[in-house]
Amino acid sequence: MKIKRVGVVGCGLMGSGIAEVCARSDYEVVVSEANDELLAKGLSLINSSLAKGVERGKVTLEGKSAAISRIRGTTDIKDFSSCDLVIEAVTEDMSVKKKVFAELDKVCPKYAVLASNTSCLSIIDMAMVTSKPDKVLGLHFSNPVPIIRGLEIVKAITTSDETLNIAITFGKSLGKEIAIAPDIPGFITNRLLIPYLLNAIRLVESGYATKEDIDKQIVTSLNHPMGPITLADLLGLDTIHFVASSMYEELKVPELAPPPLLRRMVSARWLGRKTGKGFYEY
Ligand SMILES: NC(=O)c1ccc[n+]([C@@H]2O[C@H](COP(=O)([O-])OP(=O)(O)OC[C@H]3O[C@@H](n4cnc5c(N)ncnc54)[C@H](O)[C@@H]3O)[C@@H](O)[C@H]2O)c1
Repeated sequence: MKIKRVGVVGCGLMGSGIAEVCARSDYEVVVSEANDELLAKGLSLINSSLAKGVERGKVTLEGKSAAISRIRGTTDIKDFSSCDLVIEAVTEDMSVKKKVFAELDKVCPKYAVLASNTSCLSIIDMAMVTSKPDKVLGLHFSNPVPIIRGLEIVKAITTSDETLNIAITFGKSLGKEIAIAPDIPGFITNRLLIPYLLNAIRLVESGYATKEDIDKQIVTSLNHPMGPITLADLLGLDTIHFVASSMYEELKVPELAPPPLLRRMVSARWLGRKTGKGFYEY
């Protein structure tokens, strides 16, 4: 099956980026939000990201207008009825995602592939609320979607090889590097990243090392672009706490248990860059 029209459910941080990269790769895009106000906000995120692309010389002015002309916003899920692929990028909450998949199952063509951009929730649980679990998989993009090269494709135990191959071809057409991940909590990326970040937080919590020394060591000796404490602040401490807790709930391994300091910082709304204070002040 050749994908021509892509649907994106949710036009927040990730959905707006996914809609943008699809439109820039010549797909017709339908993107939805919960209401008109959020839709206007989401579409303006796409517009300003494309404008930044123009400033950086990554997108031409004509390319920006062409991409925008290929994107149609909606608040009505029925507008996904002519999409060949729909990517769900709504809030990380299984009950919200299941509702979206059940609705998509009703309105989309029988042949359409349905994908989730979830960071850690199980794909099989979303697939099983549809009538075609073989056509459901994970397309885990990373933020910022227009810049990050990698795309993790998550194969549930029910995903057919045909669906997987359609997704691989699609991902490559966006210019992404593909890795195939299993439908385990956190897939590949977060199964490795979350213990790393939690261990760095535990080092700070125990007083064994300062946040500055941890970050400096990782940047200067491992050549990472930033250290784990800076990265935690950037990703958002609430997000890290949520992802770690949800992975811990299923796997029950101590390395995934959120450290008490992290939980307290989340309670205090010290969430990192987005609230102006996390481990560092912004
Ligand atoms: N933020 C990241 O770095 C990141 C990275 C990879 C994956 N993800 C995953 O991507 C998904 C979205 O995350 P985000 O950071 O973009 O969140 P976000 O809060 O910025 O965006 C989610 C959007 O979904 C909208 N929404 C909720 N219910 C909806 C519905 N029924 N129909 C249409 N829109 C609806 C919300 O209004 C919101 O704008 C989550 O599953 C998250 O785990 C996030």
